[in-house]
Amino acid sequence: MIRSILIHPDPRLKKVCDPVAEITAEVTALANDMLETMYDAPGIGLAAPQIGVMKRVLVMDCIKDGPPEPMVLINPAVIWSSEDVATYEEGCLSIPDQYAEVKRPAEVQVRWLGLDGVEHERQFAGLWATCVQHEIDHLDGKLFIDYLGPLKRQMITRKMEKLKRERARSV
Ligand code: NI
Repeated sequence: MIRSILIHPDPRLKKVCDPVAEITAEVTALANDMLETMYDAPGIGLAAPQIGVMKRVLVMDCIKDGPPEPMVLINPAVIWSSEDVATYEEGCLSIPDQYAEVKRPAEVQVRWLGLDGVEHERQFAGLWATCVQHEIDHLDGKLFIDYLGPLKRQMITRKMEKLKRERARSV
């Protein structure tokens, strides 16, 4: 089921999410809905708080050409970050049509729980590294615009407030 994506500013996008205690049918259904919602948007990553679920679950697929590689990460944690940094122009499904360059560690080692109930670990590089860090930030109530200067951030926030007013009127 495709869920509706919250648009910034929203208090739910500012909260620290709760860890998932165990993999249940409900968690699996949530992950499937998140993947469906992400591919439909379309986007390369989505975190549970973006659909108003305050749990530490994220999905992503950074493959642009070739067969899809859907990933579901539950309770993900960065356990190592490279000193090298990379700059990517980031966007966010909760901040539509706004993009800005963000600097982050170029590679990260991440540990998470899979839907199979097993702990996984992988080193991410390139776009995957940026995406996984962006999505983990969401689980801690952080958005990519929090890395920008206050003026740029306020400008984007005002645009989003205007967008939300327009959308509310057109319903
Ligand atoms: Ni985002």
